Amino acid sequence: MSILSKNRFTITSALPYANGPLHIGHLAGAYIPADIFARFLRLNHKDVVFVCGSDEHGAAITIKAKKEGVTPREIIDKYNQQIKESFEEFGIEFDIYHRTSEKVHHELSQEFFMNLYEKGEFIEKFSEQYYDEEYHQFLADRYIVGTCPHCHNEGAYGDQCEKCGTSLNPTDLINPKSTLSGKTPVLRETKHWYLPLDKYQPWLEKWLIEGKKGVLKPNVFGQCQSWLKSGLQPRSMTRDLDWGVDVPLEEAKGKKLYVWLDAPIGYISATKQWALDNNQDWEKYWKKQADTSDDSTLIHFIGKDNIVFHCITFPAILHAHGDYILPENVPANEFLNLEGDKLSTSRNHAVWLHEYLREFSGKQDELRYVLTSILPETSDSEFTWKDFQARVNNELVAIFGNFVNRVMVLSHKYFEGQVSLGEALTEGDQATLDELASYPPLISQTIAQYRFREALSHFMNVARLGNKYLADEEPWKVYKENPERVKTVMYVAAQIVANLAVLSQPFLPKTANKLFAMLDMESQDWSRAGQQNLIAAGHVLSEAQLLFEKITDEQVDFQLQKLEEAKTKNAAAAAQAEPAKANITYEDFLKMDIRVGTILEAEKVAKTKKLLKLKIDTGIDQRTVVSGIAEFFNPADIVGKQVSILVNLEPRVIKGITSQGMILMAEDADGRLDFVNPTSTIKPGSSVR
Ligand code: MF3
Ligand code: ZN
Repeated sequence: MSILSKNRFTITSALPYANGPLHIGHLAGAYIPADIFARFLRLNHKDVVFVCGSDEHGAAITIKAKKEGVTPREIIDKYNQQIKESFEEFGIEFDIYHRTSEKVHHELSQEFFMNLYEKGEFIEKFSEQYYDEEYHQFLADRYIVGTCPHCHNEGAYGDQCEKCGTSLNPTDLINPKSTLSGKTPVLRETKHWYLPLDKYQPWLEKWLIEGKKGVLKPNVFGQCQSWLKSGLQPRSMTRDLDWGVDVPLEEAKGKKLYVWLDAPIGYISATKQWALDNNQDWEKYWKKQADTSDDSTLIHFIGKDNIVFHCITFPAILHAHGDYILPENVPANEFLNLEGDKLSTSRNHAVWLHEYLREFSGKQDELRYVLTSILPETSDSEFTWKDFQARVNNELVAIFGNFVNRVMVLSHKYFEGQVSLGEALTEGDQATLDELASYPPLISQTIAQYRFREALSHFMNVARLGNKYLADEEPWKVYKENPERVKTVMYVAAQIVANLAVLSQPFLPKTANKLFAMLDMESQDWSRAGQQNLIAAGHVLSEAQLLFEKITDEQVDFQLQKLEEAKTKNAAAAAQAEPAKANITYEDFLKMDIRVGTILEAEKVAKTKKLLKLKIDTGIDQRTVVSGIAEFFNPADIVGKQVSILVNLEPRVIKGITSQGMILMAEDADGRLDFVNPTSTIKPGSSVR
């Protein structure tokens, strides 16, 4: 059954973290598809609420604040504003763009928590969690990184590996490191409230695997299937953090709700606020209705790294609560790459929306068009500036813009802009109009199946049809002998332009407005698409406006150069010294016993590339030290050399040899090693301080 048989829709786009500007990957992931879909439904007079807002909690925010040396509040205020503006500029038409820092949201999140708490859904458990002793903080979520046990991505976070999408607990990470101190954390006991996902597993299997097969896109369904197969574990819904929604329990003072508990509830609180502002009933869009056929159809647009939270965790929470509808679909997109490389905020390898808006002023629809053409709907896709230029110049300008322009110019030149029927329609005219009428159902069907790339290509075929019609009829040649025939040709062509105006509305909203203005027409709903007499005989067209301009080689080069500069900067930054570690006390320093020693013997450790076995006169004794310097020094060359040696380091067995101490070496960013040694001969055993 097509989704278009439904009447009420609740459309959500992932709430972006308010910790940085948006780039093209965001637009292509969760916003352009959702906006096309919502606009399409509105054009079909469906009852739609389309909500989004800033995700303003969690470590994503506090880590950024720490990095910039400002408060989390300053971070969220700054980026919420910037993100909101970018969405407006690109015509992403939410009914509300809310914020999870708002009071309604805190209250609703706490209500959800208490609802589940009072039902006894949570497992309350003391457990050992990673703790950074230097920063006196528990390390949850993005405060801890390590190697993903599933895909071996080395940058996995404590709650999720963004590479393979798997949700994790910090203790799942291999080689965990604090992102605060960079150190290996210790374990400490703390109490948390866990959502028993294992208990919901049978229900989830039924709902997802039985109920959503053939509904969810294969990329989404496959991920869900594999998580369920590996077995769900309870997940903590609380955190030891000082930023977020307070856990509403006396005994949990100082603890916050897990950001992935509160953030999706943000969709609901946004709807609540919108309803309040517009005198609407929010419950119609979220709660189960007495008659289930009145239930709203909930659709979450997201990027693939959010699938687990929208297909497993949030539905489990909604289910446990009981009053709420569940998502009908979660059309997640894969990732968009840029110029052969992953988009990266930290490496500044991105096309930032606020910069695009400055550098390509007024060209929002051009970017919407190109991104829609390459949406990563079924697999990762790639944006390149050359391709952007080619699509704008060869498609928007040469096909769409050119057709519209020719119709406008010829109509004004021959008939002062008046559309009228001269001679009767020929068979060819009728065939063209019939083909025109065949496109809107194709576009509707593909949009309803979340195949927006295909929908857009059908749309462009309408412009191609127009161009072909003009090329075949050659009105500029016919006019001299038969102006009456040309009237009819321009009439047919004008119907195609009017249809382009109607059909462009979900994809290219600014362009649609321009077209309607040129046609001197009110905007039309989707039911009018395909009609062969959208413009009545006698109607007079308005002035032609420029729809699209070519993207120049200079513009492309400028963008490519910007990306190159970012790369150079990264390389320079990588070559710079590491930042200083946190301060230690003088007493800490005095614990280290460093002496000058003389190397007496040196030999390679068999079957290793890097290790030398050294015998050292420390002044205290002669001892054996294994050192990883074999790639840089010949054994024979270093006998007699003086070195600094840490003599009170716990002995360690390396390759079967007990190493008693550590030679101090200097290491540069490329991993090159050299001795830290006196410049003249000093008595072995002298202290280094
Ligand atoms: N802020 C999250 C991200 O950028 C998305 C949150 S979506 C919501 O990955 F469901 F939590 F709202
Ligand atoms: Zn992984």
